[in-house]
Amino acid sequence: MRREFILILLGIISVSTLSSLLTTYVQVEADKLLLDTVVGVVGAGNFSYWQLGHSGPLLVELTSLSGDADLYVSDSLRPSYEVDKNNFSSATCGADTVSIPAEFPRPIGIGVFGDWSNKVSEYSIQVFLDTSTLVKEDSVVEHAKINTEKTGGG
Ligand SMILES: *[C@@H]1O[C@H](CO)[C@@H](O)[C@H](O)[C@H]1NC(C)=O
Ligand SMILES: *[C@@H]1O[C@H](CO)[C@@H](O)[C@H](O)[C@H]1NC(C)=O
Repeated sequence: MRREFILILLGIISVSTLSSLLTTYVQVEADKLLLDTVVGVVGAGNFSYWQLGHSGPLLVELTSLSGDADLYVSDSLRPSYEVDKNNFSSATCGADTVSIPAEFPRPIGIGVFGDWSNKVSEYSIQVFLDTSTLVKEDSVVEHAKINTEKTGGG
């Protein structure tokens, strides 16, 4: 009887540990709200274009499922890799993420470039509403105020 009781107790403890782990996980993801996911394929040296109309501060994450795709974002609908043809870019071998401020004009043009190293690259794009920057921008404003007061006094 006593042994069973202890086992049940252990069971309850591990379930609550697990649920607190899960809660932490959910909280981490809570400052990113998934709005959209698209999957596509792009040929070597070619661009695929997407358009985003979501408002607010966004996080655009490009994941290469095979090959290597790079991410270019612009206020025009045909971004490219030249510096004057994109406003944000990420061209790493791993996951590419760009953060787009709320005031950036919509629709947003997204260009996905297929790296030359592979005949085709498969990719997925996830678009998140970046709720964490809302908080960050507030604290930056607070900081600026404090600094101004300090310099004003001296
Ligand atoms: C690249 O794009 C061009 C023009 O759309 C197309 O003709 C060509 O087949 C594409 N190449 C690949 C490898 O997808
Ligand atoms: C995006 O980049 C283009 C080209 O550099 C520039 O003319 C435009 O003002 C930029 N747009 C924004 C919203 O920063």
